[in-house]
Amino acid sequence: MTQTLKIALIGGGHMGGALAAGWLRTKRSGVTADSLVIVDPSPGEPVQDLVERHGVRCVVALDAALAAEMDLVVLAVKPQALETVAAPLAAMLGKDTALISIMAGVTLNRLSMAFGDRAIVRVMPNMPASVGAGVSVCVTNEAGGALEKTVTKLFKPVGSVEWVKDERLIGAVTAVSGSGPAYVFLLAEALAGAGTAEGLPRDLAEKLARETIIGAGALLASSDKSPQELRRSITSPGGTTQAALDALMGSGGGLPELVRNAVNAAERRSRQLGNGNNR
Ligand SMILES: NC(=O)c1ccc[n+]([C@@H]2O[C@H](COP(=O)([O-])OP(=O)(O)OC[C@H]3O[C@@H](n4cnc5c(N)ncnc54)[C@H](OP(=O)(O)O)[C@@H]3O)[C@@H](O)[C@H]2O)c1
Repeated sequence: MTQTLKIALIGGGHMGGALAAGWLRTKRSGVTADSLVIVDPSPGEPVQDLVERHGVRCVVALDAALAAEMDLVVLAVKPQALETVAAPLAAMLGKDTALISIMAGVTLNRLSMAFGDRAIVRVMPNMPASVGAGVSVCVTNEAGGALEKTVTKLFKPVGSVEWVKDERLIGAVTAVSGSGPAYVFLLAEALAGAGTAEGLPRDLAEKLARETIIGAGALLASSDKSPQELRRSITSPGGTTQAALDALMGSGGGLPELVRNAVNAAERRSRQLGNGNNR
């Protein structure tokens, strides 16, 4: 594969936009404004910004000539759009064009059936990729083994990169890190709501909840300690934190059980999407 990859990014929404912005921010990604074409009939703001500031090409659809030039196609549309996108695209791609899919639930096998025998890598990124703080987990089909370095180079600019050998783990990855940022945002909402219920002005409650989660995340990032050790280190027996944690971890399983059920639901949904159940 050439040094400057010719990439078609199909889907310039939240995650596609975050990836494209990350690639162009970092020289080491090997992607330049000239080597990237974004395909989206209604791209999001980050992509519009890349078009205006970097002159990245954004088109409504790939034509055969453009498709034939591509080293790599990155699928960043909703899983529900797979069938619509795959048929015309597969017919235009050369057999050496590799495929990366970030679609939740869509298996390597389903991608092979839709796009034929070629190197395919499934990647599950997450939304903090938009600020370079994501985590992406990758798995490849047999033909895609040679792509490991290239894919790692592409996803490093938006966060850390992990590889697994067993594709069945990607459902759990999706449920933990792919969907995980939304769970943390819900915690921020709930914490702000609880503060308001205790009498804090809404603005202050929201600020305190947001800053607390940002600060706790930064502490987690800078510490060698596990989350459990950090929690224990700030919980005095009989104190205020202990009183709250008793409520959060109390009878009936509390928050850990709730999170267990939530992650299990997301993992099951990922498998349904993989089977083409879009409802
Ligand atoms: N967001 C996340 O946190 C996250 C995390 C991990 C993985 N993912 C995966 O990333 C993929 C994209 O998610 P997203 O959140 O970025 O969704 P999104 O914001 O809806 O982006 C998808 C984009 O694709 C466009 N699109 C639809 N049909 C198309 C077509 N035929 N050709 C080209 N573009 C087309 C959409 O346009 P319209 O809006 O006009 O339909 C939209 O701009 C999904 O498969 C998801 O499972 C997302």
